[in-house]
Amino acid sequence: MIDFDGRTVVATGGASGIGRATVLKFARAGARVFFGDVNAEQAAETVAMADGARGSLDFIPLDLADRATIAAFAEDVLGRAGRADIVANIAGWDRGEPFMDNTDEFMDKVIDINLHGPIRFTRAFLPGMIEAQAGRIVSVSSDAGRVGSSGETVYAGAKGGIIAFSKSLAREMARFKINVNVVCPGPTDTPLLRSQPERLQEALQRAIPFRRFGTPDEIADAILFFASDMSAYVTGQVLSVSGGLTMAD
Ligand SMILES: NC(=O)c1ccc[n+]([C@@H]2O[C@H](COP(=O)([O-])OP(=O)(O)OC[C@H]3O[C@@H](n4cnc5c(N)ncnc54)[C@H](O)[C@@H]3O)[C@@H](O)[C@H]2O)c1
Repeated sequence: MIDFDGRTVVATGGASGIGRATVLKFARAGARVFFGDVNAEQAAETVAMADGARGSLDFIPLDLADRATIAAFAEDVLGRAGRADIVANIAGWDRGEPFMDNTDEFMDKVIDINLHGPIRFTRAFLPGMIEAQAGRIVSVSSDAGRVGSSGETVYAGAKGGIIAFSKSLAREMARFKINVNVVCPGPTDTPLLRSQPERLQEALQRAIPFRRFGTPDEIADAILFFASDMSAYVTGQVLSVSGGLTMAD
């Protein structure tokens, strides 16, 4: 197991799916973890699941579509921990529907949660990392952002934005020894995926070379790799964890 003793991790989306699996892995590997989410009830379940972990796991309410809560989250963590060593942008949201049916309100929500929010969340922790000349930023995008996905047009645009943002940030932050990388899950067995129509789920499984969905733990492993010293010389990269569904360059 990779060791995160003494590292402070801030993460989003820890109340469910990939985010939950990730914050639990970090805490069990010794990290001091602070995570934000809109779902306080399920976040409390995640915290309970970390019972007995070597590190610690704290929940702080966060709505990525509300910039005031991002600022409050950062102020709270920086007040308690001084700075973050690792930022993990994991939360995301979408509802599949044809682009021409999307309302303005829906498009704003998708872009706020999947693009504006992670950009603001990341920026809030960069001053401390720049000062320390160290840090890891890992953002969860989607293969939709690499190869497109019909019915997820605005989401794919936001996720593609995360990739371009991360590559550019990786270039700017390299001189401060801050690594910035992206994990793109393929279809992964989480509540987000299970909310899709049954027929779509079956078709997806048939199309995946490994003939099964990914598990949240398998995506979390890729996030921990980018957050660890095992990827010290890797920056600006995008890793699809998709059972071979996508093989983008
Ligand atoms: N499951 C998949 O097949 C899949 C595929 C590709 C990419 N992804 C991406 O992986 C990430 C995790 O998704 P998941 O499948 O675990 O989904 P999930 O729905 O299980 O978990 C997402 C979490 O984000 C939180 N969240 C939603 N809106 C928020 C907001 N405004 N502010 C703060 N938190 C908010 C939710 O409460 C939830 O805890 C997302 O970025 C998603 O886009 C998932």
